[in-house]
Amino acid sequence: MILITGATGNVGREIIKQLGKTEYQIRVLSRNPDKASFPKNVEVMTGNLSDPDSIKDVLNGVKKVFLINVPGSDQFSQIAKQSGVEHIVFLSAAAIEYTDNAIGQAHYYTEELIRKSGVKWTFLRPGAFMSNTLQWVHSIQSEGIVRMPFGDVKTNPIDPHDIAAVVVNSFETSGHDGKTYTLTGPENLSPREQTQILSTVLSKDIKFENISRELAKENMIKAIPAPIVEASLDLMEKAAAHPLEVLNTVKEVTGQDSRSFEQWANDHIELFQ
Ligand SMILES: NC(=O)c1ccc[n+]([C@@H]2O[C@H](COP(=O)([O-])OP(=O)(O)OC[C@H]3O[C@@H](n4cnc5c(N)ncnc54)[C@H](OP(=O)(O)O)[C@@H]3O)[C@@H](O)[C@H]2O)c1
Repeated sequence: MILITGATGNVGREIIKQLGKTEYQIRVLSRNPDKASFPKNVEVMTGNLSDPDSIKDVLNGVKKVFLINVPGSDQFSQIAKQSGVEHIVFLSAAAIEYTDNAIGQAHYYTEELIRKSGVKWTFLRPGAFMSNTLQWVHSIQSEGIVRMPFGDVKTNPIDPHDIAAVVVNSFETSGHDGKTYTLTGPENLSPREQTQILSTVLSKDIKFENISRELAKENMIKAIPAPIVEASLDLMEKAAAHPLEVLNTVKEVTGQDSRSFEQWANDHIELFQ
């Protein structure tokens, strides 16, 4: 039995699709499973990673876990060990390489807890997700515009489909215990270039407006905790100072080329219309 946490999220949904083609029994954990729909062969359980009492039953009979980072989930890997879990594939973050960054620190903290738990582990450290551009849906639909800071700073965005493919491979094949995979998409792209690609794919004139870090912070802080806002903006500033590398890890692990942003945009076109 495999437990998928974050099953209603960008990566978790892709894992469920890809695991559906395997023989594994799949259980998902969600705080609000009624809000999502899952395939019939998936067992759905309600739980909260930051509430230890709610996860004990969820882990019953589970041998493998896909784990996402949730603040306050400190006891998870210890409870998993006691429940007989053998392997945790943890969705960490490339930001971990910056020891002064709150996003990096939070993921490093969880990696350490998993290392200490005694459960076998595989850590995946992706950079920015292509699906982060879904935050632009509202302004694209209502005004035909994307407003972002660091408009010409390139990152190496990855398709959650490719992260999921590495997760499934880590469960299905041997040799992934104790491995840390830093994952990127196939090309470096700036927010302005991503906007241009969306414009072409949607056949719609989408303007790009470069905004200040201060204005971006003001907008983001309405939905995201302040330290995470600062940490996200710092990551863009760091990418401006030290251009990010494009890595071949997805292909090395899965045998498949990583997907382009144009492919991702085509796959999700209906969400922008
Ligand atoms: N976005 C990026 O650029 C990026 C880059 C590197 C790493 N990451 C990492 O990737 C993770 C997953 O991203 P994503 O885009 O796949 O997720 P997402 O779409 O943001 O969804 C978040 C998921 O977390 C679950 N969740 C949140 N709090 C929970 C809790 N207390 N207990 C149980 N489940 C909880 C939600 O499940 P329910 O609401 O159903 O409970 C949901 O499935 C991020 O959290 C981050 O750690 C992201």
